[in-house]
Amino acid sequence: MSKTIILSNRLPLQINITKEKLQVTPSVGGLATGLKSFHREGDSIWIGWSGLTEEEIPVNLKAEIKVRAREDACITVSFTAEEMDGFYYGFSNRSIWPLFHYFTEYTEWESWQWEMYKKVNQKYADSVIEHYEEGDKIWVHDYQLLLVPNMIREQRPNATIGFFNHIPFPSYEVFRTMPWREEILNGMLGADLIGFHTYDYERHFLSSVRRILRRPVEFNEVTLANRVVKVDSFPMGIDYEKFEQTALKHHEISEDQETELQQRLNFHRKKSPDSQLILSIDRLDYTKGIANRIRAFEYFLEKYPEYIGKVRLVMLAVPSRSDVPQYQLLKKEIDELVGRINGKFATVSWIPIWYFFRSMPFENLIDLYTSCNIALLTPIRDGMNLVAKEYIATRTNQTGVLILSEMAGASHEMNEALIINPNNFEQIADAILQAIKMPKEEQIRRNTLLQKRLKRYNVVRWATDFMKALDKTKENQPSFKAIHISQEIQEKILTSFKNAKNRILFLDYDGTLVGFEDKPNLAKPDEQLLDLIKKVSKIKNTKVVLISGRDKETLGTWWKALPVELIAEHGVWVRKTGKEWQLNEKVHNNWMKNVRPVVETFCDRTPGTFLEEKNYSLAWHYRKADPELGEIRANELSNVLKELISNHGLSVLEGNKVLEIKSSGVNKGKAAGKVLLKKDYDFIFAIGDDWTDEFLFQELPENAITVKVGVKKTAASYYVEDTNKVRDLLLQFSRVH
Ligand code: ADP
Ligand code: G6P
Repeated sequence: MSKTIILSNRLPLQINITKEKLQVTPSVGGLATGLKSFHREGDSIWIGWSGLTEEEIPVNLKAEIKVRAREDACITVSFTAEEMDGFYYGFSNRSIWPLFHYFTEYTEWESWQWEMYKKVNQKYADSVIEHYEEGDKIWVHDYQLLLVPNMIREQRPNATIGFFNHIPFPSYEVFRTMPWREEILNGMLGADLIGFHTYDYERHFLSSVRRILRRPVEFNEVTLANRVVKVDSFPMGIDYEKFEQTALKHHEISEDQETELQQRLNFHRKKSPDSQLILSIDRLDYTKGIANRIRAFEYFLEKYPEYIGKVRLVMLAVPSRSDVPQYQLLKKEIDELVGRINGKFATVSWIPIWYFFRSMPFENLIDLYTSCNIALLTPIRDGMNLVAKEYIATRTNQTGVLILSEMAGASHEMNEALIINPNNFEQIADAILQAIKMPKEEQIRRNTLLQKRLKRYNVVRWATDFMKALDKTKENQPSFKAIHISQEIQEKILTSFKNAKNRILFLDYDGTLVGFEDKPNLAKPDEQLLDLIKKVSKIKNTKVVLISGRDKETLGTWWKALPVELIAEHGVWVRKTGKEWQLNEKVHNNWMKNVRPVVETFCDRTPGTFLEEKNYSLAWHYRKADPELGEIRANELSNVLKELISNHGLSVLEGNKVLEIKSSGVNKGKAAGKVLLKKDYDFIFAIGDDWTDEFLFQELPENAITVKVGVKKTAASYYVEDTNKVRDLLLQFSRVH
């Protein structure tokens, strides 16, 4: 039976060795804690790092670690200390993590770390291949493994691969500073589906793909040479029931069975019943805004001194990535801040901050969530922030107030919390006051709505939605309908070409016979192409028709000496072999004087665009414009033009990075139809790359062989990847006879 292979840097279990014995604890962090429930319920294996380097594992414990991990359906991948240094403490956490969280001043670019990152990603990919069986689904997670999807794809081209990024994806302006940005994007695009927590991260990613790789992006799909990658947002949820149920049970525990922490919290509550506990929980990370939070709390006590002695900040910081210098500095800063503020405000019976720097067992986490009436979470940047969701899930009587940074992904779904800007101390201090004073009814009203949403969109739903969307990507690929021209299909086409008595080939020019150049007049046919077309057109009983949107002058000059029929301006003009140009359609061009100035204003406003004037049409080219701006302006111009030309017998054609205004009713399909009326052809072939060729594909008779260049939605029956393949196919035709 097929399974899901989950791949993340860290496994949900963390293995330590004390006195030659294994100690297993759950891993901390949103990815591991969240995904654990999905893993537990489904048929999956999870590949990742145990937390120990090869050097740290005594030989006699190696097998035991593997067996222990297997008990939880986990497979460990082992790394040397040097690999971990470059990959984990290096590129992952000194380059990508700060960059993706907009801490550009902390980013380091060390090429040896990048090399290690590639090496370790390859090791992970190889491990997946080792456990992969046909039909399995692969789900790769997070920023440590950005190259893995493509590394797997290279070895298993047909595998179903999903990728989820648990941290923010920064805006293009920030991402572009990365020296290896193309490799990173291509690595991710190895997946069939790429997921982010929020729409903003998705948008930033697509923008980088468009601008850096210059790949076509349509809505949320990226078109590659031979497949389409879907990008979407899936906000991660929590195991709601687990938190809710544990909290409910927690309220029923008898006093003598309570944890030591809970007893201490109860003691505090009994001693000062009207005092308030404000909770703060995170990994000790500079992105979490812990220092700001403490300073904002200090400011609160200064601004509202009546609360001195009545409000306490309970701060739990979990040690994290302590080999990275920025984390060591942060630890020092927090220690000093807590010390200074406690020194400044403490009374004999009260200290303002209780500070824990350690990981805590799950029951203690629940003690804290259920005992604190306010949670203050103020990350400067945070992909999601599951603590915010967990806090709400444990408030089983619906009381409690969540103060949450607008910079956390979770804030997009948690509008009923008090949303603050983590850099605005005034706002944080006032939010604390508002939380303290908030009537119970209001707390209940807000939390009821929050809980309803979190319950519905829990972690299993998140994972299931992702997996369903992943399955769909495979179903959707063939929705192109067009079939790739494989060797076998090519043979069949060649045979019918050979056996036919009367053949006709309709060939589009730009994007089909030649690639795109920045300026249309640079895309002249090369000698090799002229020679190729000559050979094909000389085959007996074979008519070659070049059918293009180009103006007749250019086409006529370029193809002057060849025995081919030319159709220009999408069908306005026709030049039969060896004859003069003839008007093929009744058209007029007196509309141009009104439309030209409008298009010219778009040229002025959009650098890199220009107007091409043909006899009976105007074309606005935006290939050289900034890709995003180009798309936006094309859309704008298209709308403006459609209004302007309505009722004038004109239409706007949206080609490949070009908008063309021309007479309605003139199109390649109609033009080809006229040619076909003249004779009975038993081999009809048409090939083209853009939207204007779709008319051709639609109009031709059923038995025609229609071929699209590139992977795009089309009415054609077949597709080939690029212009090289087109030429190759024509070369085969020329060799049949
Ligand atoms: P991040 O993924 O950046 O660490 P999240 O808030 O998304 O931040 O996830 C943190 C996860 O770690 C939560 O699921 C939380 O329950 C868990 N966690 C936080 N602190 C502790 C702790 N002291 N002990 C155990 N688990 C913790
Ligand atoms: C965040 C990241 C995870 C990571 C976790 C803990 O949640 O998105 O990928 O596992 O932090 O960090 P660590 O470096 O200890 O794995």
